[in-house]
Amino acid sequence: MSAELSDLSGNVAFVSGASRGLGEHFAEVLAKAGCDLVVTSRDTATLALIQDRIEGVGRQCLALELDVLDPDSIQKAADRAIEHFGKVDVLVCNAGCNRRKPALEVTWDDWNLILDTNLRGSFFLAQAIVKRSMMPRGYGRVITIGSVTCVHGYAGLAPYGASRGGIKQLTMSLADDWGPHGITVNCLAPGWFKTAQNAVMYEDAEWVEMLSNRIPVRRPGSMKDLDGALVFLASESSRYVTGQTLLVDGGISGGPVRALPKK
Ligand SMILES: NC(=O)c1ccc[n+]([C@@H]2O[C@H](COP(=O)([O-])OP(=O)(O)OC[C@H]3O[C@@H](n4cnc5c(N)ncnc54)[C@H](OP(=O)(O)O)[C@@H]3O)[C@@H](O)[C@H]2O)c1
Repeated sequence: MSAELSDLSGNVAFVSGASRGLGEHFAEVLAKAGCDLVVTSRDTATLALIQDRIEGVGRQCLALELDVLDPDSIQKAADRAIEHFGKVDVLVCNAGCNRRKPALEVTWDDWNLILDTNLRGSFFLAQAIVKRSMMPRGYGRVITIGSVTCVHGYAGLAPYGASRGGIKQLTMSLADDWGPHGITVNCLAPGWFKTAQNAVMYEDAEWVEMLSNRIPVRRPGSMKDLDGALVFLASESSRYVTGQTLLVDGGISGGPVRALPKK
């Protein structure tokens, strides 16, 4: 296989939710694979540090404020990114949030925040970037972010699971809509990875052991476990793959025991 298939030199990648966790990691991996980067979130002070790191590996990086709950903010960030670099080749719709609680305690606000951030925010960000850059150029790689909740239901995660199930369906619809225009749309669905969103759960060693025992490869994910799938979906390697949800989860979604330990 030619190394060119996963070489992203000359590509521009736009990552939402790049201030920490998976999004920060995705931005660094794409930079190391050759992309110039647009890193975005609401926290511009932290983004400035990430920009320095990406420039440190020899790539250009633009840090932009973006709140995916605000349509004007989405349009402004998309416009500024494309004015600066002239294009976006790879979009990672990673910004997301969660409020874990029993279904009977979920409020109207919880529902709106989670669905609007994870699902509506991903859709309108993709729409803005595709309309302004990918559609006119006839090329693009859109990567949405899913989770094991794309395919399984879990107590305590009703709105989150609804948002991720929606992302899986959205990915298929957008793939059909934009496929004729040279744009692939795929969902990268991580299993269990320790980040700020869920760090408190990983403080409980007994819970981590129970979780590990339910994952076929017997451990939670570490960020680098996502690198191959990310570069695959961002590059020429995946040119005939679209509308798919790729679970990178140590096998938990396909394993014999689905239930997660309660927390
Ligand atoms: N960690 C896991 O195990 C796991 C597994 C499956 C899927 N996921 C999904 O992967 C994504 C990243 O997860 P994570 O664990 O890295 O979460 P995290 O550490 O909480 O980071 C979330 C990121 O999203 C950004 N964000 C949140 N609300 C936003 C908004 N309204 N506008 C713009 N940016 C916003 C945050 O940036 P600011 O606060 O700076 O704006 C931050 O950069 C999420 O969509 C999450 O649901 C995570």
